[in-house]
Amino acid sequence: MVGYRKYTIFIFCFVFLVVLAGGIVRTTQSGMGCPDWPKCFGSWIPPLSASDLPADFEKYLRKQDIDHTFNAFHTWIEYINRLLGALLGLFVLIHLVWTFMKRKTLGNTLVIHSIAMLIVVLYTAWLGKVVVDENLAVVKISLHMITALILAFIPLMIVNQLDKRASVGGLAISKEIFLPYLGLFVLLIVQLLLGIGVRQEIDVISKAAGYLNRETWLQSVGARFIVHRSFSWLILLLTVFILIKHKNPYFRSINKVIFGLVCTLMIFGIMLNYLDFPAIVQPLHLLFSLILIALVFGVLHKVFLTSIRVKS
Ligand code: HEM
Repeated sequence: MVGYRKYTIFIFCFVFLVVLAGGIVRTTQSGMGCPDWPKCFGSWIPPLSASDLPADFEKYLRKQDIDHTFNAFHTWIEYINRLLGALLGLFVLIHLVWTFMKRKTLGNTLVIHSIAMLIVVLYTAWLGKVVVDENLAVVKISLHMITALILAFIPLMIVNQLDKRASVGGLAISKEIFLPYLGLFVLLIVQLLLGIGVRQEIDVISKAAGYLNRETWLQSVGARFIVHRSFSWLILLLTVFILIKHKNPYFRSINKVIFGLVCTLMIFGIMLNYLDFPAIVQPLHLLFSLILIALVFGVLHKVFLTSIRVKS
């Protein structure tokens, strides 16, 4: 089942490629580059230039509220994002077929996980359509991001199940490690919600400013930003505690990765704060935070699965 495990990890990585593409769509203001869904300007392959636009193109442009002109760059950024999303859907479908065909070896639990993955990917795609229909409604964008995160959890759960079966006698993981990871996961979810709040405010402020004067955007965000910024110290503290306290060789390297991600996110946050909100940092801050939360979830799930079998 090495190939199946690798393919599941591939899907996990592909989710983040789609998240990165989504982040680039937002930071380049390409969200309404394709004003209709699932087609783009009424066709499956979007126009390359204004001369390729359909006769009734104005009805599509009227849907945009950022600007009402055709911008091939925005259109193609959004279209590539959709293509990657569609590819992800296809990969997940192949995963389900594979799991179903091997269900005697893999068992019903993994079939259920794979079905859940397909449902979440379809729901996420549908939310993508709603975001376009509602002209980039800020709350729907946030929901779209949360479902993408849940989508990343499922392949990790599948890999953990496979590893649990492969490890004879189980890993020697003490149960006491569960609580600090649970605490970190809860703190990260709070931080995610605070970050989403900041992003929603930025969405409104930047749109009102016509996406100009980036250096002023953060100044207009309320107390939520200060809380989000300060909250990361709590996360850093707990991460350092886990790194120092839990020396289990299995988790040593993942703990270093978690610590590295927290530090990088803080550096990205500082860059957003002090370097006039660089556009490139926005999708990276999103990408790294989702990778961090998914990894902590994966470790938590692994500890949960294993500590059932291992008595501390
Ligand atoms: C563990 C540390 C951190 C995590 C997990 C985290 C997570 C997040 C998340 C999930 C978002 C929403 C992103 C989106 O929806 O696109 C966000 C937004 C944001 N965060 Fe953080 N963050 C962290 C630290 C920081 C720090 C230290 C700062 C500032 C010094 C900061 C500044 C911001 C800003 C300005 C936004 C809005 C970004 C935008 O509109 O694109 N973050 N954060």
